[in-house]
Amino acid sequence: MLTEAIQYAATHAVTPKEFRPFIRSSVNLWSRAGRCAKDWAPHEENCRAFIREAIAGMRECRTVVVLGSGLLRDVPIETLAEKFDTVVLVDLVHLASVRAWVKARRFGNVRLIFRDLSGFDDALAGKMPEPLAFLRRVPYLDLVVSANVLSQIGVGAKRRLERENDPGKGEILPALIRAHLDGLAALPCKTVLLTDTGYRVTDREGNVLEEADLLRGVPAPPAKQAWTWPVAPYGELGRDCQAVHEVIAL
Ligand SMILES: C[S@@+](CC[C@H](N)C(=O)[O-])C[C@H]1O[C@@H](n2cnc3c(N)ncnc32)[C@H](O)[C@@H]1O
Repeated sequence: MLTEAIQYAATHAVTPKEFRPFIRSSVNLWSRAGRCAKDWAPHEENCRAFIREAIAGMRECRTVVVLGSGLLRDVPIETLAEKFDTVVLVDLVHLASVRAWVKARRFGNVRLIFRDLSGFDDALAGKMPEPLAFLRRVPYLDLVVSANVLSQIGVGAKRRLERENDPGKGEILPALIRAHLDGLAALPCKTVLLTDTGYRVTDREGNVLEEADLLRGVPAPPAKQAWTWPVAPYGELGRDCQAVHEVIAL
């Protein structure tokens, strides 16, 4: 609890006001990632290996943008910082511990950008969401990595609709997922998409207690690789149940 409070306070101090409401969920993610480190390790290594493989054959490595860089657990940041001239990390929140780690490594070519990647406000206002349009203005862009952020865009938007008492606007959720996928597909550079697509909560006998499609009915693009990620291993949600997510990489 004390480390969470320090992390929260230190992050609050360096986060613009409009992004402060998201710090709590980032700190929660950080705590869970620490508790579940052993169970999450294969998923994180799969993600890092997939990105490393994707860049292995690239001839031009000027700028890479990582969407949903978060805790930098599933992103091979050392490799990116070595290989690319500029690394741009985009998220709602950059935790103080992540900033300190980046600073300690003296990665002079790594930039942190605060940005809402959902397109929520436009979609709610009845406009076509184009959440990745800003990437068109990034010079010398050679690679964009969407790092396990897509499902969270849907989750965050659903929570916001509920909070703002607007659950009837549920149709914007698939529109946001589609906007991210279309935005990536339209980029003139190489892209990597890592995302969980759905999950199942099961008991120890294998009975399914809950399941959900995290892409909100939008068909997942064809994957090059797929694996499972025990996001909530036994003990995390309850003693006798676990939540396992399906992940794709392309
Ligand atoms: C599952 S975590 C991904 C972890 C990260 N790639 C890593 O290596 O640790 C999802 C990340 O997406 C970010 N995120 C969620 N919704 C977002 C949004 N609308 N815009 C930008 N980032 C968002 C969260 O803050 C979180 O860092």
